[in-house]
Amino acid sequence: MIHNEFSIMKLDWSHTVINIKDREKILDFYTNTLGFKISDNGPIVENGPEIIFISQNPNEHHQLAFVLGREEVGNQTSLNHISFRVETFDELKEVKEKFDSINHDYMPLCHGNALSFYFSDPEKNGIEIFIDTPWDVDQPQGIPWDPELDEKSALEWVEETFKNEPGFIKKEESSKEFVNRK
Ligand SMILES: [Fe+2]
Repeated sequence: MIHNEFSIMKLDWSHTVINIKDREKILDFYTNTLGFKISDNGPIVENGPEIIFISQNPNEHHQLAFVLGREEVGNQTSLNHISFRVETFDELKEVKEKFDSINHDYMPLCHGNALSFYFSDPEKNGIEIFIDTPWDVDQPQGIPWDPELDEKSALEWVEETFKNEPGFIKKEESSKEFVNRK
């Protein structure tokens, strides 16, 4: 765990709320494709717009919530992306297989410290799903990776590709460094 001695408080990430336009499309994507469950929904205030809460974490009432009432859906939002961690390479593969089966575009990108898929939800909000690699490396970094690789070959590729980049180090050693950083 990273504990930052010079900060007064530790801000623990809880949730993000996104304005949406198409309730049905958005909920279909987040529940059926990404596996979230709806935890509650209702008007924010009497006669106000509906808010729909979703989560995958039993200890977090909502990790995401959607407020109906977004007016325009252009090509971009001010949100760059939100990001979710999975614990196993198989789960990352599951994401790939799901997207392949519904023809949903995604971009496999490796930051050296993570193997990621980047994609958009149906209203062009950016999302990342990633697994940690055993290494850290100075950021930013981003090189496309081959999502057909198995876990062993993917990790060998990461090590080979990033080992000569500045700051390449095993994660255990790197978190010690972060704590000591001034
Ligand atoms: Fe990211």
